Amino acid sequence: MKTQKAYGSPKPIGDSSIDTEIPSNEIAISIRNLTKEYVLKSETVRALRGVSFDVPNGDYVAIMGPSGSGKSTLLNLLGCLDKPTSGSFLLGDDDIARMNDDQLADIRSQRIGFIFQSYNLIQQLSVVENIQVPLYYQGRLGAEERQRAIELAQRVGLGDRLDHRPTQLSGGQQQRVAIARSLINDPSFVLADEATGNLDSVTTGEILTIFDQLSAEGRTIIMVTHEDEVAERAKRIIRLKDGSLHLDELISQDRREAARQEQAAAVAELLARA
Ligand SMILES: Nc1ncnc2c1ncn2[C@@H]1O[C@H](COP(=O)(O)OP(=O)(O)OP(=O)(O)O)[C@@H](O)[C@H]1O
Ligand SMILES: [Mg+2]
Repeated sequence: MKTQKAYGSPKPIGDSSIDTEIPSNEIAISIRNLTKEYVLKSETVRALRGVSFDVPNGDYVAIMGPSGSGKSTLLNLLGCLDKPTSGSFLLGDDDIARMNDDQLADIRSQRIGFIFQSYNLIQQLSVVENIQVPLYYQGRLGAEERQRAIELAQRVGLGDRLDHRPTQLSGGQQQRVAIARSLINDPSFVLADEATGNLDSVTTGEILTIFDQLSAEGRTIIMVTHEDEVAERAKRIIRLKDGSLHLDELISQDRREAARQEQAAAVAELLARA
């Protein structure tokens, strides 16, 4: 198979046998010199200052970096929620940077699932209805779609909470509704901004297990996190600093497994003390 050196190839950490060559037909996301400027009255904020990298199909990437370094800005661009100021962004063969708002909305609803730190659930709707919200915008709300929403609720462990409203759920349960909602259109890409930021370690472990499953299904996952133990569950960590790519490293299978075991041990200890 034809391979090309991935742009700004990630450096293997702890295992030099990791192959960083990405077959060119398997690159899912390719960004080059991506910039984002926010123009305010008195100043222009350069939130991203020219970021370039490739993401192969099925990759699992954690984006890290200090507060204000541009993580959410980058994730919002990758999720087609916002447009770059300059640079190129290919999603598969689609040139996202040139698309208009309607085209971006189509890409979002067909291929991308987005999970927000603050859940963004609609308070008046039940669990099942919230999961169906992305379909509502497409006018698809039949019995079949409802059944799919119920199955997703069951999948994230909310089979016995179908008719609850968000205020009747814990933070972790609300985040699971948000994950189920992100999956309703069967997206190839799942993007999560601090999905575990507000959660205790037991619930964080449950959410990360769901992400492991989504990754095993072949979905491409990109998540923003502040926590090392969360990031080390991914296959790769991209670090931003002042709006630029600072480090791009691959996580060895051993290190991922160690992070998983450490997490499980911490949870077991907590449960034993409870
Ligand atoms: N809508 C906006 N208008 C103006 N400036 C913005 C806007 N959104 C973000 N910024 C600025 O862009 C920079 C990057 O913000 P961003 O939200 O991407 O950071 P972050 O890495 O996600 O930080 P955190 O870890 O605190 O969530 C910051 O300086 C921020 O103040
Ligand atoms: Mg952020």
